[in-house]
Amino acid sequence: MTMVYLTDRLHSLLSPQTIMKTSAWWILFTVSLVASTVASIFPSHNWKGGFERQLGNAVPNQFIVEVQDVDDIPSKRDEIYSREAHETLYAHLKKRKVGFTVKKEFNNKQYFVGASIALDNPADRLQIASIPGVKAVRPVISLSIPKPVKTHVVTGIDDPELPPDIESTHILTGVDKLHAQNITGTGVKIGIIDTGVDYTHPVLGGGIGPGYKIIGGYDFVGDNYDGTNTPVPDDDPLDQCNGHGTHVAGIIGANPGNEFNISGVAYGASLTSYRVFGCAGGTTDDILIEALLRGVSDGQEVLTLSIGGSDGWTESSSAVVASRISASGKVVTMAAGNDGGKGTFFTSSPANAIDSISVASSDNTVVPLQNLTVHGVQHDPITYYSTFPFPTNSTLPIYATSNDTNVLDDACDFLPDGTPDLSSFLVVVKRGNCTLTQKLTNIAAKGAQYSLIYDDGSGFTAVQVGNFTATLIQQQDGIFLVNQFARGINVTISFPQVGASYQFPDPAGGLMSTYSSFGPTNDMFFKPAVAAPGGNILSTLPVTMGSFGVESGTSMATPFIAGVSALLFGVKGNNTVIGTGARDLLETTAQMLASDHSDSGPLQSAAVQGAGLVNAFAAVHADVIVSPGEILLNDTANFNSSHTFSVKNTGTSIKSFRLTHVPAGTLLSLQPGTALFADNPPFSNISMDVTFSESSFTVQVGQTQMLTANFTIPPGIDQRVLPIFSGFIEITNTDNTTAESYHVSYIGAGAPLKNVQIVDNTDTFFGVNLPALGAPDGTFISGPSNFTFVGNDIPYLISRLDFGSPEFRLDLVDSNVTLTPTIPTKRGVDGRRVFERETFTFPKDSKSKGGSFAQVQTLGSLFEYNFVPRNSDVNDGTGYSATAISNIFANGTTVPNGTYRVLLRVLKVTGDPTNEDDFVSWLSDTIDFHAPTNATSSVV
Ligand SMILES: *[C@@H]1O[C@H](CO)[C@@H](O)[C@H](O)[C@H]1NC(C)=O
Ligand SMILES: *[C@@H]1O[C@H](CO)[C@@H](O)[C@H](O)[C@H]1NC(C)=O
Ligand SMILES: *[C@@H]1O[C@H](CO)[C@@H](O)[C@H](O)[C@H]1NC(C)=O
Ligand SMILES: *[C@@H]1O[C@H](CO)[C@@H](O)[C@H](O)[C@H]1NC(C)=O
Ligand SMILES: *[C@@H]1O[C@H](CO)[C@@H](O)[C@H](O)[C@H]1NC(C)=O
Ligand SMILES: *[C@@H]1O[C@H](CO)[C@@H](O)[C@H](O)[C@H]1NC(C)=O
Repeated sequence: MTMVYLTDRLHSLLSPQTIMKTSAWWILFTVSLVASTVASIFPSHNWKGGFERQLGNAVPNQFIVEVQDVDDIPSKRDEIYSREAHETLYAHLKKRKVGFTVKKEFNNKQYFVGASIALDNPADRLQIASIPGVKAVRPVISLSIPKPVKTHVVTGIDDPELPPDIESTHILTGVDKLHAQNITGTGVKIGIIDTGVDYTHPVLGGGIGPGYKIIGGYDFVGDNYDGTNTPVPDDDPLDQCNGHGTHVAGIIGANPGNEFNISGVAYGASLTSYRVFGCAGGTTDDILIEALLRGVSDGQEVLTLSIGGSDGWTESSSAVVASRISASGKVVTMAAGNDGGKGTFFTSSPANAIDSISVASSDNTVVPLQNLTVHGVQHDPITYYSTFPFPTNSTLPIYATSNDTNVLDDACDFLPDGTPDLSSFLVVVKRGNCTLTQKLTNIAAKGAQYSLIYDDGSGFTAVQVGNFTATLIQQQDGIFLVNQFARGINVTISFPQVGASYQFPDPAGGLMSTYSSFGPTNDMFFKPAVAAPGGNILSTLPVTMGSFGVESGTSMATPFIAGVSALLFGVKGNNTVIGTGARDLLETTAQMLASDHSDSGPLQSAAVQGAGLVNAFAAVHADVIVSPGEILLNDTANFNSSHTFSVKNTGTSIKSFRLTHVPAGTLLSLQPGTALFADNPPFSNISMDVTFSESSFTVQVGQTQMLTANFTIPPGIDQRVLPIFSGFIEITNTDNTTAESYHVSYIGAGAPLKNVQIVDNTDTFFGVNLPALGAPDGTFISGPSNFTFVGNDIPYLISRLDFGSPEFRLDLVDSNVTLTPTIPTKRGVDGRRVFERETFTFPKDSKSKGGSFAQVQTLGSLFEYNFVPRNSDVNDGTGYSATAISNIFANGTTVPNGTYRVLLRVLKVTGDPTNEDDFVSWLSDTIDFHAPTNATSSVV
């Protein structure tokens, strides 16, 4: 009963945010969930009732193996060395009797040589690592499908009263001024890796091939691909079933002169569409690698991916490849993620790629909405949350489902019997207490076709209304209409089909979008790098889906930066110096954003805005080059206090500057007294102390000034809540002739990351202490268990990581082992013994064979994952992991029948993998392995 109620409530709370922001890959949950409600939203005592995921979103038995190019293998004495690196790998796998299937081969000697392979037995992964020439073995990562927002999209609204320049996003970033100078990215090639594109759209040129805006493309997957089945590639990237990639393409390349007066940031550029999603479902990162490599070999100067999943690490295969491409002088822009509601250290990969540009989202200052007209009483037009007018020429009388504007559960139940036929009315109903579709279903049961939902204080946003013609109006407008109705005044409403488009001023406009993900990475890289407008963006949709629509997300901000990069290349030339310097240039010329619209609040943290909102005009016309754009202070245990940066005068006159430290708000990452990340981390006013080698300086034409900044961690900050310091060193021209200013951004953690609790050992989420063993039916196992490892009869490890881990491994140990894990097992076979922490001996050869652990042999490794993301406190697939335990050791041998325990060890962030003290450990109850002869588990 309680659970149902809370589930429903959560749904109604989350739906509006979800629909508004799910334009991107990530489902958004910006509602703060305090720890006390967390347990309730997770299924109680059942791990299968929720949305578990594989550790790190890994596809269970698929790996991307990177091999050395044969020319680079120093010793060619290897007896099964082949002329081809791939053949050498396969020969070794066969020799070791590893069953495998090759999914893809990568053979770009500059960026990536390797293969994506599926293993018959996932535990064989550890064997691969020891093959000569193998540089890395990383899991294939699955990425989920974009869900574009298409609120009442209709075709062909020719609105004569649209303002002359609707492109508020261009005005915010100086793109309008570049367009006025005829700087549009002509001659620059941009590859868009996305859901494909509708190139039949007239605003995108109406065709594909040489001579068109969209010069080419490739479909790596086909319409029916869903992320799990076999891709069916072809040469045609047409997308008329998803739409996300068409929205992205319009942000970069929409031709001006259309009915909405929008234009792409770089509408002169040539676009190529690489389609990596089918109409529905997800994709995998080996396909992203294929698309990235294809993009560089096709000669793209800019590659852009509005794709990703929360990660926190910089190490996924696609991130590694993207970073190498960036380091070689191409620009790769990628979305930082829409997980802003889940706290710090949660930016997405592949955008975490070390040398690439991770893009954050700021909100547009206006939202293109519609006004309705009120008749029968004197009243201003009322703005309703829809890009396009409700499709009716009728003037409708209103009907309020309740005359009481304080009622919470308005229309949550069937409407009363006395309710008239509502088919000729416009129904007015209050938001709250149940889902909007539940209200609208009840209203539609009385015949209603059109409804307005008035806000209850939750916020004026796009809302999820299913198939109904309904949307949100503001609270005061709803109260006005209901009061008129209750007084018996005959109010009617019409929806002008032209001339009522209104640029609604967004109260959060110009600030960071609440959904934009927070960095830094777990290895303390500066992610995101820079922000661009991503909230409430009007762009193209496939003609089959309405041609235009408004979407929100870092998915929309990312192509904006791709477009700005093309403008840069267009002006400065397509060369690698511009490419490798692009991120510094965009960062040092960006606009620092405040955390709110009051004058008293701190600057927004660089952990979410990066260096700030892009200033395209300043970046393209800068005649001062500041480098680097980012300073990485690391954590307090590895603190880098002194940093040098350079200021080069590439202009035509001597320039004088002043240095100023501009701190941003210090984020308090953890909820006090818990290991949970704060969903909306609060600020502390304690900031980093910074001193400079000089406070002012003069640079001659063509000269470079070197400067040093020294950072000191201030006293008085509570390390237990994991503070994140950030801010900017502002370099301001003092010549009084110009308002020229640049900045270098910095970020650092105010605690040793090794002290952050890493493994959840509470019962907060399931009412059962974690980690725990799970049975195949979804229950948790308490006490000894037994499994045949036939079919589904296998145990699972159910775990939550409070913080990301560089190494997560499970070993089999003897049931009589006497070691003491760091996390006590409260249900030990010997009663409710609570263990104390003790030292243990870390196994010497821990990689694949048994070793010693607290004087006891480990019998073998069952699995090991590297760079595992932390979990969130939201049950959306990021909340916990369930990992199947097989009866096959990593070295390929079958576990002999017998009674054992499993030992989990998790390395702390910044921990030393050779130091036992840097691991957290947990020991299971006994598990009886009793497989029938010759049977092995079918782990899927
Ligand atoms: C703008 O640039 C385009 C492409 O380089 C060129 O064809 C056109 O003549 C330019 N227009 C003006 C007004 O300079
Ligand atoms: C839309 O309604 C708002 C609020 O009443 C009003 O300020 C604005 O002028 C209206 N715009 C149009 C185009 O009707
Ligand atoms: C509204 O009326 C105009 C003019 O008669 C017509 O072109 C249009 O299709 C009508 N729209 C709807 C939604 O009925
Ligand atoms: C739903 O509405 C009813 C009646 O107004 C109220 O008693 C109840 O507390 C509401 N429930 C929630 C979860 O707000
Ligand atoms: C919306 O309507 C269409 C066509 O009537 C129907 O196929 C679809 O299932 C409906 N979707 C929802 C969410 O009700
Ligand atoms: C609301 O007010 C109207 C007008 O006075 C009246 O006709 C209607 O019955 C009222 N509804 C309820 C539920 O009391």
